[in-house]
Amino acid sequence: MNLTMSAAPSHTAVLPEETIEALAVQPGGRYIDCTLGGGGHAAAILEHSSPGGQLLGIDADPEAMKAAKSRLEAYSGSTVLVNQNFINLKAICNKYHFFPVHGILFDLGLSSLQLNGDGRGFSFRHDSPLDMRLNPQQPVTAADIVNSLSEKELARVIKTFGEESRSNQIARYIVRQRPIKTTFELAEIVEQATGGRRGRIHPATRTFLALRIAVNEELEHLKATLEQAVDLLGLGGRLVVISYHSLEDRIVKQFTHQEASGETARLRLINKKVITPSLVEIRFNPRSRSAKLRAAERITMPKEANSE
Ligand SMILES: C[S@@+](CC[C@H](N)C(=O)[O-])C[C@H]1O[C@@H](n2cnc3c(N)ncnc32)[C@H](O)[C@@H]1O
Repeated sequence: MNLTMSAAPSHTAVLPEETIEALAVQPGGRYIDCTLGGGGHAAAILEHSSPGGQLLGIDADPEAMKAAKSRLEAYSGSTVLVNQNFINLKAICNKYHFFPVHGILFDLGLSSLQLNGDGRGFSFRHDSPLDMRLNPQQPVTAADIVNSLSEKELARVIKTFGEESRSNQIARYIVRQRPIKTTFELAEIVEQATGGRRGRIHPATRTFLALRIAVNEELEHLKATLEQAVDLLGLGGRLVVISYHSLEDRIVKQFTHQEASGETARLRLINKKVITPSLVEIRFNPRSRSAKLRAAERITMPKEANSE
């Protein structure tokens, strides 16, 4: 397979070669892709771990699951694909006796499939209901949050998860104009609250990010799952995380640095500095521009998956 950046019909995998190298993919290895998306990284892992490689792939989004299943059809004998949230990582591995593993990948955030898809509410570029759930079974939508939190709580969500300095003003405008049902309505209200567009970035970008993070409890799930992931790695197994915004990257950095320090260290950092896409990759795939890859290797023997 050509790992250089061929235009995929749905989602183009970010930092493809760097990911395979950071995972140190080897023939016969067992790997977990916690964020299957369109299956781009998963296909590359399967290709490089052949013959004999196995992949457990997870995605919370049933639509992503369908896309990944069809992309990975040729490897159906070597894959287990699970439509669940990665917060259940350890339980999933116990169920499928998938332990210990040679590498675990998280390619966080959303795929182009989700961002370009109609009706999911992730982007203000399409007019759709304010949903933003990765999985339609989740109980809370972005509309629920926007229309039910107090002004103070809403401002806190937008400030904390969106790192938005104008959060108070935005929350005030939102509360005044509720109920808000669609992405276009919300984007327009944020534009009014912030005095309209100034720079290159749309004024609603941070508010949309904050709501998505809140709806899917992204930061809590990431923290808790990183812990589980280290437990599942065999000696020499690799943990690789690609993140797309500073809050995610801070969690990954803190976690890996902490696990790699002191007498009880379980990890060794592979790259002290983050790996970022080349200018060529960014030109070809603009969505890659904010990507940061961190990798670490397990340096201790694992215990039983469910007892660690
Ligand atoms: C950037 S995309 C991954 C793209 C993939 N690496 C590829 O090459 O096609 C991120 C995927 O992770 C999934 N995801 C995000 N958070 C998740 C979670 N907590 N549990 C399971 N899947 C999650 C999203 O639904 C999305 O499909």
